[in-house]
This record gives sequence, structure tokens and C-alpha cells, in this order.
Amino acid sequence: MGAINAVTDLSVEDGIAIITINYPPVNALSHAVREGIVQGVQQASADAAIKGLVLICDGRTFMAGADITEFGKPPKSPWLPEVIEVIENTSKPVTAAIHGTALGGGLEVALGCHYRVAVPSAKCGLPEVHLGLLPGAGGTQRLPRIVGPQKALEMVTSGAHIDAKTAHAAGLIDELVAEGGLRAGAIAFAKKVVAENRPLKKVRDLNDKVEAARGQPEIFADFRKANARKFRGFLAPEYNIRCIEAAVNLPFDEGLAVERKLFQELMGGVQSAAQRYVFFAEREVWKIPDVPSDTPTLPIAKVGVIGAGTMGGGIAMNFANVGIPVTIVETKQEALERGLGVIRKNYETTAKRGKLKAEDVEKRMGLLTGTLELEKLADCDLIIEAVFENMDVKKDVFGKLDRIAKQGAILASNTSYLDINEIASATSRPEWVIGLHFFSPANVMRLLEVVRGAKTSKPVIATSMQLAKKIGKVAVLVGVCHGFVGNRMLAARQAQAQAMLMEGAMPWDVDKPLYDFGMPMGPFAMGDLAGLDIGWSKETSKSSTVREVLCEMDRRGQKTGAGFYDYDEQRNAKPSPVTEKIIKDFMAKAGATPRQISEQEIIERCIYPMINEGARILEEKIAIRPSDIDIVWINGYGWPAYRGGPMFYADTVGLATVVAKLKEHAPKLGAGFSISPLLEKLAAEGRKFQDLK
Ligand code: 3HC
Ligand code: NAI
Repeated sequence: MGAINAVTDLSVEDGIAIITINYPPVNALSHAVREGIVQGVQQASADAAIKGLVLICDGRTFMAGADITEFGKPPKSPWLPEVIEVIENTSKPVTAAIHGTALGGGLEVALGCHYRVAVPSAKCGLPEVHLGLLPGAGGTQRLPRIVGPQKALEMVTSGAHIDAKTAHAAGLIDELVAEGGLRAGAIAFAKKVVAENRPLKKVRDLNDKVEAARGQPEIFADFRKANARKFRGFLAPEYNIRCIEAAVNLPFDEGLAVERKLFQELMGGVQSAAQRYVFFAEREVWKIPDVPSDTPTLPIAKVGVIGAGTMGGGIAMNFANVGIPVTIVETKQEALERGLGVIRKNYETTAKRGKLKAEDVEKRMGLLTGTLELEKLADCDLIIEAVFENMDVKKDVFGKLDRIAKQGAILASNTSYLDINEIASATSRPEWVIGLHFFSPANVMRLLEVVRGAKTSKPVIATSMQLAKKIGKVAVLVGVCHGFVGNRMLAARQAQAQAMLMEGAMPWDVDKPLYDFGMPMGPFAMGDLAGLDIGWSKETSKSSTVREVLCEMDRRGQKTGAGFYDYDEQRNAKPSPVTEKIIKDFMAKAGATPRQISEQEIIERCIYPMINEGARILEEKIAIRPSDIDIVWINGYGWPAYRGGPMFYADTVGLATVVAKLKEHAPKLGAGFSISPLLEKLAAEGRKFQDLK
């Protein structure tokens, strides 16, 4: 007894063999772990003195799944289904002892055990769907046999983690043991199983729940219908559903064969490759080469927000949500009250949906203090400005803040486009100034662009990144340029969308292929949602663009019931003859001849210039790595994760194709257009963005 290999260990206590896995950080089921488990189980089986087994993990968690870093490499025996078969077919009862998160392959191993115990803080889930996969080691066949098909459908398609108490109630966990006492509790449980001569409970043999659902195809039809919007474009949810259907309709081994086939299909496809790439990309963003993880950070106990408009209110909510008090400054009482009113309404809506307790609404509102005096921000550790997008106004605010804020306070701007260095120049402490660019609605959208000025200090950057994590955001560090990463690339797309209106495409012609591509909506629908009058004023409007004419007609977007589209009471969009006429009039005036533009061209014209802009962003070192750009687009603009972000997508198209198409379209791309030298070089060398490390 003792070490089985470098990552597994076998010990014996009172006739119970304990196989311990120690493979930090998350005990992923690497080849060595799989091999260790099989050897441990075989050794324990062969030893007559051993009556039962416990499978437990050291460190922060039970096995968190298959080792994702091994995906795409040739599989090495024993592969996971074999490991589970060995466990399940052991002649002595095996108990899984769960703490932390039993996820994916980890939960599948636990389902292959005869019994499962867990501490109350543990969580279980099958999150493969987030990687564009399905549980490929029997999870889709065993889980419904315990929790029933309906609950299994929810778990495999959402990837949600359920807590140990819920899992216990559902029969997934046989016994809860005291927090901190997992090893002793699991051994005691295993001894009890042996003493009581309990049967070897194989999940594969539990057929009641699946049989009860047989002959009821509506369970699946209804589930598909209810979730159609959420699953749009993704293959993995549908494949997961088919596996649960197989669990209900077929004998276990046949169901397992269906699971295997569909798993391999997903694993070989581009969607899963994209989603696995996104998994790692989301973890890369936190790694900043010249700001190492041991950079000192500053405590943020009190936050100030300037401006209680669209953004300021949402920004303040992020901090109140995690218990940090916020002082909100406005210029007029009326604006302050309106802003605080919107925040209250947001919290109350969440409470009505059952996602927030009524007392928490008051608790969070109690953390927000409104004021008209900037001086009240003197003791804040972080102050975020969210006033009008105007350099003079922002510089005025930062000049004042420089006099008011305590030394050591971080001064941040939520500007969408403006130069953080110029804003910082209004202070005597540019090293304390940073951009914190939230996305609208700021309490909902996951993305935060952290904009590093030329003089921003490393502790200010490290603190901002850490704080972003605390408030549940994905932060991407970017440099100063007009529009930073996201809006700069968006501008490249919008310019083409506009241009195509003057070549013969209607707004809905442009929006449709982008929606079908997987974007939440096309550029014109997005304009209508945001409001066409952002930055527009009646006084200066000159009827010089389609958008100006629409605003002059009070077609200012969804909020006025019409914009590029007409909207009905339920805000369903319909192509508008009014808009069509405006566009045709503009074309007639310009003497332009309309032509038929293919959906393929629309995609290329909208997306390839974005990729080109992304390449420039890399050349200029505005983003650290291509995958950071992809994280911006997935979390800030709803780019479909199954296409991995614009830079990953470019790699799948092939950079040589992107360059060739850009050259073909170049005469239509506008006078200022040119191909990024980086993009051209990579294409010529047959390389990908992913090769840039
Ligand atoms: N394989 C390999 N590495 C993994 C991993 C896995 N399954 N899960 C996490 N890691 C790595 C991360 O990449 C990260 O590495 P880094 O420190 O070098 O960046 C490190 O472990 C820590 O991860 P997190 O930063 O995410 O740590 P958290 O504590 O925030 O979260 C977690 C821990 C909840 C376990 C989270 O990592 C997670 O959700 N992991 C993925 C779980 C998953 O998807 N499992 C299913 C895998 S697919 C499968 O099992 C297929 C099977 O059905 C056949
Ligand atoms: P908004 O017009 O809704 O709100 C601005 C608020 O600031 C107003 O309530 C105004 O009264 C207040 N204000 C103006 N000057 C002030 C001062 N000196 N002191 C205190 N309060 C003052 O504008 P919105 O949309 O919230 O934008 C704010 C900033 O956020 C802008 O820089 C904008 O570019 C940026 N932003 C906007 C996004 C959006 O989708 N609306 C997205 C991301 C960033």
C-alpha cells in the first residue's frame, strides 16, 4: 500500500481501501489519474482483507472532469469509460467521497461507484455542454436513471451545478457527511455498507425512472420548444437531448453506444473546438505578462460613481451586489432620483422573478447613497466616472476629482471611445487613472474592458482586474485607442453595414445573415434597440444620413415604436416601407444603381473588416493576445461561443481566404481601407492567429 503512482495513493483503514487522487489544481482525470484509479481498484479487489473502497480527492475539489488539455490528442488506455466499468464491476462496494465540485467525467466516475457521499458545500454537474460536448462516459445514461429524464435534461443542457442538498434530495447523493469530516464520514459510510451487507447498487440497473418516461415523446418535444431560443445555433444541447432520449427508449448498453457516437461527432467538430478554446481563453485574460499575479493590490471598501444615467446606475449595482457601499453623484436632484429609482425597479423586478429576496432589495438599496456634492467622494477607494461622452466634461470632472479624492484612490472613466491619457492629463496623478469600460446594461453584461493608460500603475491594473473578478465580470486588459477593442471593431462592421444600404441591401437584408450566423441581432436591429438618437440632436440634424432622417421623423428606434424597422405592441420587428423609401430616395439622389448582394457577401463585408481591425489591434499591442479579442466579442457583443470569437473564426475560415476576400471587396470597403500587414503576413506564411503566443 502507499503511492500507486505520482498522482494516486492507496491506503487501508479498518478493512476499507482508500484511493486518494492528488492532481492539482482540480484533479482532472488525466491519463495518470485514470491509470491510478484502475490499479488501485484492482489491488483492493485482489486483497481478501479489504471489504469496501472509498474514492476521494485531496486539494480543493473532487475530480472536475476529464483533462481538457488531453482533448484532441490520441486517447490513451485506460480511457474513462473503461475506468468506470472497472469500478462498477468491482465485487466490493465503492463509495465516492465528494467535496468541491464533482463535474463532468468526475461526476460520471461517481455515478459508476455504488454509493456517493458528499459534504454539504459540494456541488455536482455535467457541464460538458459548455465545451460543446456531452458527458461521454455514461453520464447521459446513468444520470436520468437516478434523477429522472426531466431533471437530467435540465442538467445536461444547462451544465448547471446543483448543490449537495439538492443532489441528496434527488437521490444522486446517498448521504451527507459533516463539513470538514469527509474522509472519516466516507469510511464510516463504507463500513456501514459492508456491515449491513448492502447490495452493490449499480446505477445502470436502475430502470424505474427511465421506463416511466417511455412512450412520452412530448417530454422531449416540449423541452426542445421551450428552449429553442436559448439553444439556437448550438449543436451540443440537441445532442445531449438525444442521449437522454436514448436513455429512456433503449437498453443501457445501446444507449451508451448512442452516447459514444454523438460524443465523438461533437469532439471532432468545429463547435466544440471553439468552445474549448473559449474555456481556456477566459482563463488566459487574467494573465498579464508585465503585471504578475503577485503584484500588490489595493483594498476597495468604498466606491464612488459619477453620473446616475444609463451606465452609472448599472455600474453602482455591481458593487452593491457584493456588499460594497457606493456613493452616487449627480448634478441635479431630479436626475439622481430618477437614477436611484431605476436601480430600485431593477432589483424589484429581479425579486419578483424569485431571484432575489425582498430583504436583499432593501439591503442593496441601503448600500447606495445619492448626493449632489462631488466632495462626498473624498474617502472613496475607487471612483468611476460615467458622465456624458464629452472630453471637456470628463476633463473638468477629473480635474475636480484630483483635488477631492484621497491619495491612493483609483480614478476610473467609463468612456466608450475617449483617450484615457488625455483624461488623465487633467489630474496630477495619471498613474492612478484607468479606464473601466462597462457594457450596457452594466449590471448584466459580463464584459469589462480595463483600459490601461500610458502611465497607469501596475497595482492599479492588478486591483482593477481583481475587482472585476469579485463583481463577476470577465475583464480584458486593453490599451488606449479610439473605441478600444470592442467598439473599434464594431465601427468597422457598422461602416460596411451602412455602405451596403447604398448598394441595394435593405436593413433587414443585412441583419438576417448576421442573425443566422449566430449574433443576437444584426447592426440595424441593434441600432433600433439602443436608440438611433444617441449622439443625435434636432438642432444640428441635416437630413444627411438615413439615420438622421429617421430621427427627424421621430423614428428613433424601439422606444418610439419605429426606427429602421416598424414595431408592433409586442416589439416584434417588421421591415418598414417608410425606411425602404428613405433609402431609395438617398440612392436616387446619389445616382446609385441597386444590385443584389448575396448573404455570403454580407457576412464577408461585415465580418472580415472586423478581423482586419482585430489584426491591427494586435499589431498596435492594444490587446495582449488574439483570444482576448475573442473574449471581448463573446461577452460584450454576443458573438456566438460556438464560433469562438472573430479571431478564432478567421482561423477556421483560413487567413489566406480572409485576405483574398478583403482584396476582392477592397474597392467597396471605403477610401481609408487597407489590409493589416500582420494579417497579410500570417496568411502568406500559412499561419493562424492562434499561432501567435
Ligand atoms: N481539465 C484540465 N484543466 C482544467 C480542468 C479540466 N477539466 N478544469 C479546470 N482546469 C484548469 C484551468 O484551466 C485552470 O488552469 P490555469 O490555472 O492554468 O488557468 C485551473 O484548472 C483552475 O481552474 P479555474 O481557474 O477555472 O478554477 P476555479 O476554482 O474558478 O473553478 C472549476 C474550478 C469549477 C472546476 C472550473 O475549473 C471548471 O468548471 N472546470 C471545467 C469543468 C468541466 O468542464 N468538466 C467537464 C470536462 S469534459 C468531460 O469531463 C468529458 C467527459 O464527459 C468524457
Ligand atoms: P447618460 O446620459 O444616460 O448618463 C449620464 C449622466 O451623467 C446623466 O444622468 C447626467 O446628469 C450625469 N452627469 C453629467 N455631467 C455630470 C457631472 N459633472 N457630475 C455628475 N453627473 C453628471 O449616459 P450613459 O449612457 O450612462 O453614458 C455615460 C458614459 O458611459 C459615457 O462616457 C458613455 O460613452 C459611456 N458608455 C455608455 C454606454 C451605453 O451603452 N450607454 C456603454 C458603455 C459606456
